[in-house]
Amino acid sequence: MKILAIETSCDETAVAVVENGTKILSNVVASSTAMYEKYGGIVPEVAAREQIKCIIPTIQEACPSFDSIDAIAVTIGPGLIGSLLVGVETAKTIAFVTGKPIIPVNHVLAHMYANFIHDKQGNENNKLTIQQYNNITIEFPAISLVASGGHTELYLMKNEKELMWLGGTLDDAAGECFDKTARLLGLGNGGGVAIEKAAKKCQMLNDKCKIKLPRPLLHDDTLNFSFSGLKTAILREVIKLKESQQYNNTTTRLPARQVQQLAYGTQEAITDVLVEKTLRAAKKYEVKSILLSGGVAANTRLRKKFSIWHSAFSIHVPEARLCTDNAVSIASYAYFRGVPTAWHSIIAIPDLSVEV
Ligand code: KG4
Ligand code: ZN
Repeated sequence: MKILAIETSCDETAVAVVENGTKILSNVVASSTAMYEKYGGIVPEVAAREQIKCIIPTIQEACPSFDSIDAIAVTIGPGLIGSLLVGVETAKTIAFVTGKPIIPVNHVLAHMYANFIHDKQGNENNKLTIQQYNNITIEFPAISLVASGGHTELYLMKNEKELMWLGGTLDDAAGECFDKTARLLGLGNGGGVAIEKAAKKCQMLNDKCKIKLPRPLLHDDTLNFSFSGLKTAILREVIKLKESQQYNNTTTRLPARQVQQLAYGTQEAITDVLVEKTLRAAKKYEVKSILLSGGVAANTRLRKKFSIWHSAFSIHVPEARLCTDNAVSIASYAYFRGVPTAWHSIIAIPDLSVEV
């Protein structure tokens, strides 16, 4: 079964065709990096206007003909309303004119289905790349961590279809904490990627960060997360460092070495909490596998920390390009868990719940 998937929940316009939920036939992502540079971040209306322009060329590139497609999948939420509308209305129109079934998809739940993808050559790519594991198919039950820019959620996956939400962030998401810290440290809009790069320099120099940052909610009984306190702690450290160096202007950047140390400390704090809470859930529910997904799962330090647990659990993580937003995971979700729905009853839902 070939599914054409459209994903426009944030600033990206992504279109893919996936066969049987596992094999990528095409995968195109048009992102708006230029907008970041011009406006210093995402401007929802500007993003939607860009998406109106590029949705048709992106679909044409990923899927030159609708003849071989069996169904259409589309992200209906959560996300930015203007952006979602572009994808949803385009997908509905394709369903109407072709008479093919359409499947509405929850963006956050879809992230974890990137773990079911094999690459074009038919090789499995959903294993940790740091070490080679033999375990190719996902064994259930599994714990699934979705860590993205807007969400940090834990699920129990009883099988490919049955999900149970276990906990999530009470305030900021892990990715949001990476993004805000990057800005605070003068690393611009580079987000988690910039923090990872700066932290690596600190690691390479074996220049360990002596700054103690909190690990929020690490010792509470729930499977919830909280990252806003960590962000505030980092801000306090930045102010303290600037004051100790007697900067008059608080906007002045810290010296590179201190930026690297703080980036390292931030990455350690976030990844420690993500690993610890996920492992706690995995032990509690006696699962066989752990699945990582969402943009933050592209972080190599996080992947490394999880890889240590490979003898206790089969650990899966998509390749980096399938951790961040893409339409491949939307198609895979639709194949394994989607429900075809009448096109006229599908609407964009910006605050779609992720608790199932
Ligand atoms: O899943 P995603 O592409 O979009 C959302 O659904 O939000 O995730 C984006 C988030 C951003 O916060 C970004 O900083 C983070 O994923 N991210 C990373 C890395 N690559 C992307 N965080 C840490 N390390 C990375 N290498
Ligand atoms: Zn996402």
